[in-house]
Amino acid sequence: MFKPTNGGYMDLTFHVQTFGCQMNKHDSERVTGMLEGLGALAVDTIEEADVVVFMTCCVREAADVRLMGQVSSMKNIPLRPGSPLGKRMVAIGGCIGQRDGEKLFDELPHVDVVFGTNNLASLPSLLEKAITDHVQSAETLEESLAFPTDLPTTREHSWAAWLPITIGCNNFCTYCIVPYVRGREKSRPIEDVVAEASRYVADGVKEITLLGQNVNSYGRDLYGKPRFADVLQAVADTGVERLRFATSHPKDLTDEVISKFATVENLMPALHLPAQSGSNAILKAMHRVYTVEHYLELIAKLRDACPGIALSTDIIVGFPGETEEDFMDTYRLIEQVGYSQVFTFIYSKREGTPAATYEDNTPREVIQDRFDRLRTVVEQGAYDFNQAQAGRVVSVLFEGTSKKEPGIVTGRSPENTTVHAPLPDGLSVQDVSGSVFDVKIEQARTWYLRGEFCSLG
Ligand code: 5AD
Ligand code: SF4
Repeated sequence: MFKPTNGGYMDLTFHVQTFGCQMNKHDSERVTGMLEGLGALAVDTIEEADVVVFMTCCVREAADVRLMGQVSSMKNIPLRPGSPLGKRMVAIGGCIGQRDGEKLFDELPHVDVVFGTNNLASLPSLLEKAITDHVQSAETLEESLAFPTDLPTTREHSWAAWLPITIGCNNFCTYCIVPYVRGREKSRPIEDVVAEASRYVADGVKEITLLGQNVNSYGRDLYGKPRFADVLQAVADTGVERLRFATSHPKDLTDEVISKFATVENLMPALHLPAQSGSNAILKAMHRVYTVEHYLELIAKLRDACPGIALSTDIIVGFPGETEEDFMDTYRLIEQVGYSQVFTFIYSKREGTPAATYEDNTPREVIQDRFDRLRTVVEQGAYDFNQAQAGRVVSVLFEGTSKKEPGIVTGRSPENTTVHAPLPDGLSVQDVSGSVFDVKIEQARTWYLRGEFCSLG
């Protein structure tokens, strides 16, 4: 039987499958970094993997159901030829791991390891125990003992880095499970954030995205109470070419942060500002602690500071008690703001949250109809936003070739819009990936822009 040598994983292959938000994607990069650091080899498919790690999400029910289905169906996938293990190891991490702990072993007996959102660092030892002693083990600490930032990370793209500045959330929006599975908000000291950002810049990273459930409340738990604007400025000062952040809670977005969009050149003109609803009654029931009027004031200030800013948002349709009038308020908010992108979600009841106990008698078809009507206004907004980019020259950070069209390279504008352009003669995909080039926008579609590289001379 295989035994990891000296705690190493030399002959093992692994595959990490990620569900959910950017924080999970980042956690997956840490898991990959950790397992690679131990000598294991990352592979692209479950079939090739000796160890499969699922980084899970439980924000909506659909993700739960998908995970259960995927993990169950894995039983039928044979072990790869030459695997040093007698059985494929399965580990479940992330929010479902945290929420369900060892209960998962009852439902999914072929799972070997369960680890919570605060237990990334324990994964290697839990796996080792499962491999050598054949025991299932779970670890789900309620609060993180330390910021898991000392863990190695293998980034998806060498030129872009996510940098968590807070973990957890103190807001308790009534529909949301996140505070229960990610714990109370913890901020990372500015010096640590800046040190990591500086390392990335020295390493050739072009774009840093500061991450947190609500980055705007950064620092309230730290000595001296540094503010988000301070850490934003400090990271901008490292000289990184592009700086972004997510997510912002409207109740905590300060004038000082808004003014950074006017003054900080490397802060990209794009902001994700979840509104959730355009009805004050629903916002109150959601415990969002702002009004639509306040939200619109923020939008006006943002446009004042940065006229071309791309605004995106999250909207929940069908929150318990939502009336047609409430819904139309949301519809009008979307029309009025003119978002570049809107992520719409049908409300999903999450056990343990306050809203799970609210009376909810809107028929499913009515909610689906509202959701469909919202799509039209969302698409119109995205189309109008993109149309306004036609004819402009935008600087694009390229990521690689388009999946559908070889010969076309794809990247992101400062506004975070996808841009496609034919690869110019004399340049390879490797030449452009991870680099910024000017592109003249010639065509605007709802979800992307198309253009030509400007003269490279
Ligand atoms: N149902 C539907 N959408 C939800 N979100 C969070 N919780 C729920 C839920 N129970 C949405 C919010 C949040 C986004 C990440 O997910 O819009 O901003
Ligand atoms: Fe959930 Fe609200 Fe916290 Fe966002 S701010 S993670 S929606 S509780």
